[in-house]
Amino acid sequence: MCGIVGYLGDRPLLPVLLEGLRRLEYRGYDSAGVVYLRGNTLEIKKVKGRVYDLEERLFQMDHRGIKSPGLGHTRWATHGEPSDENAHPHFDCRGKLALVHNGIIENYYKLKRRLIERGHKFNSETDTEVIVHLVEDYLLEGLPLLDAFLRTLRELQGAFALAMISAEEPDKILVARYQSPLVIGIGEDELFLASDIPALLPFTKKMVFLEDREVALLQKGTLQIFDFEGRSRHYTLKEIYWDLSQAEKGGYPHFMLKEILEQPQALQNTLMGRIDLNTGEVDFSKEGLTKEWLSPINKIYIVACGTSYHAGLVGKYLLERVINLPLEVELASEFRYRNPHVTEKTLFIGISQSGETADTLASLRLAKEKGAKALSICNVLGSTITRESDIVLYTQAGPEISVASTKAFTTQVLIFILLSLYWSKLLDKNYEKSLIEKLLALPSHLGQFLERIRPKIKEIAKHWYHAKDFLYLGRNILYPIALEGALKLKEIAYIHAEGYAAGEMKHGPIALIEDTVPTVILSAKETGVIFDKTLSNAEEIKSRRGPLIGVITEGSPEFQKLCKDYIEIPRTHYEFLPLYYVLPLQLLAYEMAVLRGCDVDRPRNLAKSVTVE
Ligand code: AGP
Repeated sequence: MCGIVGYLGDRPLLPVLLEGLRRLEYRGYDSAGVVYLRGNTLEIKKVKGRVYDLEERLFQMDHRGIKSPGLGHTRWATHGEPSDENAHPHFDCRGKLALVHNGIIENYYKLKRRLIERGHKFNSETDTEVIVHLVEDYLLEGLPLLDAFLRTLRELQGAFALAMISAEEPDKILVARYQSPLVIGIGEDELFLASDIPALLPFTKKMVFLEDREVALLQKGTLQIFDFEGRSRHYTLKEIYWDLSQAEKGGYPHFMLKEILEQPQALQNTLMGRIDLNTGEVDFSKEGLTKEWLSPINKIYIVACGTSYHAGLVGKYLLERVINLPLEVELASEFRYRNPHVTEKTLFIGISQSGETADTLASLRLAKEKGAKALSICNVLGSTITRESDIVLYTQAGPEISVASTKAFTTQVLIFILLSLYWSKLLDKNYEKSLIEKLLALPSHLGQFLERIRPKIKEIAKHWYHAKDFLYLGRNILYPIALEGALKLKEIAYIHAEGYAAGEMKHGPIALIEDTVPTVILSAKETGVIFDKTLSNAEEIKSRRGPLIGVITEGSPEFQKLCKDYIEIPRTHYEFLPLYYVLPLQLLAYEMAVLRGCDVDRPRNLAKSVTVE
C-alpha cells in the first residue's frame, strides 16, 4: 500500500505535496519522491527513507520556477527493494512523462520484456515503471496523450491507482483507479488528488471518489471523468468532515478494525501474480522457488514467533498433506538455543511480518550456519530477514499498523495454501484444479462473511467481556486457530485465555471448567471424523456446566444446542478453514477489548516488532 498525492493550481507546489505525503505515511514509508515542472522540464527528487528525508533534500534546493502540476509518492515496496532508484515517481525514456502508482501490476514481467524488445530502457526493478514506458510507447505510435493513457490501462492486470503528468502538456494531470483507492479534491480553481482522504483534509472537504475502471483528467478549473474506453462518466461531489485521526483509519475507530476488514483486499494482493492466469496454476518460479531448488530437501523446519508461529502450525497441516518429508514447527526463541539437526538438505522456513524479529533472525542465522536453505515469508521488503534469506515469498499485506497481527496472519496462511498447491504441482501430484478458481473468489467471499458476522460478534462480546478466563479449543488445522484466537484476546483485551488442542482436555485442562470459564470451541465438518471428536469435547464441557461459544459449520444443530452463543461458518474447502475461522476470533477479541476500554492499537507492554530478545 503506497501513498499518492498531486496538485494542479496556484499555491506553492512543494508544501502541498509534502503536507499530503506526511499525512499518508501510515500507508507506506520506505521511500518517497516528488515530481514537478521547472520551466518546461520535469524534475524528480526521490529518496530511500521517510518523507522527512525527502523534505530535507528539497529544503536545500532552489525553489525558483517550480510550478504545478506536481505529484508525490510515499512507498511501501512490493516489487524491488527500497532504494532511490525504486522510489516513485518514474520517468519514461525521454523524461517527458512522470508517473506514481499504488498497487501491484500482475503482468509487469511480460510487459517489461515486450518494452525492452522495443528499445525501452528501465532504471528500476519496480512493476510500476512499465506503465510509464507503455504510455510512452503508444505516444510514439502517434496516439494523443489521453488515448495512450487509456490504451495502457486496458492492458494492465492487477490493482492500480495511478497519476501521471507530461512536460509536453503541463496543464494536465491524468489519474486512473482500479482496485486501489483514489480521491480527487475540489478547491477554488484548483484540484488535488490523493490515495486517501487525510492528504486532502487541510485543503478541501469537497471530494470525488473515483470508481473502479475510471479515469480523471484534471485541468485548471475543470475535472472530466471517463471509463477506460474513453466514455464520459458523471461524478458525485461528497463533503467529508472527518478529522485526521479518523481519516487515517479509513473512518474506523482503530487501525486493528480497519486491518481486520481490509483482509480481503490484502489476500487479493497476495494472490496477485502468484497464479498463472493462462495455466490456472500456482507459480512461484519468479521468486526462484523451483523444483531443482527444492528437490534435495529431506527435512523442513518452520520457525517463527507469536502469530507468525501460529501461521507456521497451519502451514504444517497444509504441507504434510502434500509432501512426504519430516516437518517441524518451532518457536524461534527455543530453536535458536538448541542444537537442531540441520544439514545442507534442510529447508528453514522463517515467518515474520516485520522481518526484524530478533529470535527469528537468530534462528535463520543458526540454520544457515549449519548449511540450510532459507526461505522466508515476510511482509516488509528489504527487511533484515529477507536480506539474509535465499528465497522470499512476500505476503503483500501492506503496512500493519496495529500491534495485534491480523492481515499479516491471514496472508501468511494464504502463502502456505499457495505453497502446498505449488509443491504438489512440482511433485506431479494432482490437486483439485477447481481449488484455484475457488481461491481466486475467496477474498470476496471472506469480505461478505466478515460483514455478515460483525453484528453478531458485537452481541456475543457483550455477553462475555467480563469473564476472567477463557479456553479456546480446536483440533487438527483448527488447533493453531484456537491458539491464535487466544493470543488475540490476551494481547488486546488483557483477558487470560488458553488455546489448547481439544483432544488434550482430558489430560488436565478439563479441571478448569466451571460456569465462569467460557470455552470457545472450533469445529468444522470439513475435518471429517475430527468433527465428531470435537463434539464429544463440547459435550464433556457442557456436562460440567462450562459455557460454550461455538465457531461451527453452518447447520450443525448438534453443536448449536450445546452452545450459549455461536457463529456459523459456510461450508468451504479444508484448506480455507483457517482463513474463515480466524476472522470471528479476531473480531471477538477486538470487540471485547473495546468494551473493556483497552488501547486496542497500542496494547500495554507490547511492541509491533520485537527486535530484542
Ligand atoms: C501478534 O499479534 C503479535 N503482535 C506478535 O505475536 C507477533 O506475531 C510476533 O512478535 C512476531 O512478529 P513478526 O511476525 O514480525 O516476526
